[in-house]
Amino acid sequence: MSTNQLDKKSEAWSALFSEPMSELVKRYTASVFFDKRLWLADITGSLAHAEMLAAQNIIAASDLADIQRGMAQIRSEIEAGTFEWKLDLEDVHLNIEARLTQLVGDAGKRLHTGRSRNDQVATDVRLWLRDEIDLISDLLKELQVALVDVAEKNVEVILPGFTHLQVAQPVSFAHHLLAYVEMFSRDAERMADVRRRTNRLPLGSAALAGTTYPLDRERVAKTLGMEGLCQNSLDGVSDRDFAIEFTAAASLCMVHISRFSEELILWMSQNFGFVKIADRFTTGSSIMPQKKNPDVPELARGKTGRVVGHLMGLITLMKGQPLAYNKDNQEDKEPLFDTVDTLKDTLRIFCEMVGGQLNPATGQKEGGITVNAAAMEAAANKGYATATDLADYLVKKGLPFRDAHETVAHAVKAATSHNCDLSELPLAVLQGFNALIEKDVYECLSLRGSLNARNTLGGTAPAQVKAQITRHRTRLA
Ligand code: ARG
Repeated sequence: MSTNQLDKKSEAWSALFSEPMSELVKRYTASVFFDKRLWLADITGSLAHAEMLAAQNIIAASDLADIQRGMAQIRSEIEAGTFEWKLDLEDVHLNIEARLTQLVGDAGKRLHTGRSRNDQVATDVRLWLRDEIDLISDLLKELQVALVDVAEKNVEVILPGFTHLQVAQPVSFAHHLLAYVEMFSRDAERMADVRRRTNRLPLGSAALAGTTYPLDRERVAKTLGMEGLCQNSLDGVSDRDFAIEFTAAASLCMVHISRFSEELILWMSQNFGFVKIADRFTTGSSIMPQKKNPDVPELARGKTGRVVGHLMGLITLMKGQPLAYNKDNQEDKEPLFDTVDTLKDTLRIFCEMVGGQLNPATGQKEGGITVNAAAMEAAANKGYATATDLADYLVKKGLPFRDAHETVAHAVKAATSHNCDLSELPLAVLQGFNALIEKDVYECLSLRGSLNARNTLGGTAPAQVKAQITRHRTRLA
């Protein structure tokens, strides 16, 4: 194509076409209004390609210089917002290439030697996603640190642990938060793993079969900081599994945030009153003046559905495609971009909502989650959270566990009918259920006694919780 032809590409691709594209088809097939966000990756990839072409004597050193000069100008035009994006030029790649040719002439037309938009777009998306994964990994780390900070202040705070949302056993609030730290640490591991497979170079695959030019693909990979090459050209241009697995990792991370959101929403309700989040993360009601609604956690829970939807979209996009590149793949971008945006925004908000904002005057973080320890403890005192401890007490005195379980069920029934806690039943009453019970039983019926007793690795005893915190601090340092 001549400069002129490329600029008016849609009027007819080449001499082969007898009529131009219709306006509707032009809009239907164009991607520039969303894929222009790949512009920096596109320029970076093109410069690495051009530099290799020159090193391999496929283009002249003067062509490379022209391309570099043109790309520098394009970069500043895009940054300044003066670059004119044209729908007629379909996508980010053709827009940048056309402008380059306009600026530097023949050198611009030589850039596409040994390359196709198929390997170009696959490279751009991988480069872009790799850098986004790095930002997401930083945010995941920040969120873990924020949670560990809150945990450290709440090792001795007790709340009821639930199963089936029924009071089960007392747990340390720190222990509860550290469960989320585990989840987010696995999310970070998954991101690191996805990054390795994303960070491989398709460029050099050309349209589908490789190229007749003596390209040095290793050199391009090195310039771009990529960890390897796609080893099969058909696969390199066509598979988007890296985008799918990223979206799967992002979905899981959002699911973890959604679970945490659900708990925050419950904990903030009047019926629990366990925590408060800063007012700036809540909204009022237009009709009920007393309301402070947890909109941010609710939206995070809602946006999780959106990200999981993108995973479904992307994986379905892939399933019917024969080798190699098909235009279907252009549909990978919007779900991928939105997944990245949603996850990053959500993580940023949660970092601040949990950990607070840095006050430059004091050097301290302020406005994070506020904990109502008394409300948590009062709730833990309802619902016979230490019933298992009483059973364990009897087992230690020699009763088989199943018998102990039955004995305690009777004790709980009695306490329920007296509307009191197990620890409030007089010793004589408790001894009526089993003669093995002695005065020391009250120690194990206390919340703190129950907590301290769970002193095995991974348990909720404060000693174990402190060990978890130390381990996370080392890992996150
Ligand atoms: N905009 C296209 C995409 O996102 C670029 C590749 C187009 N290649 C092609 N042969 N039509 O996938």
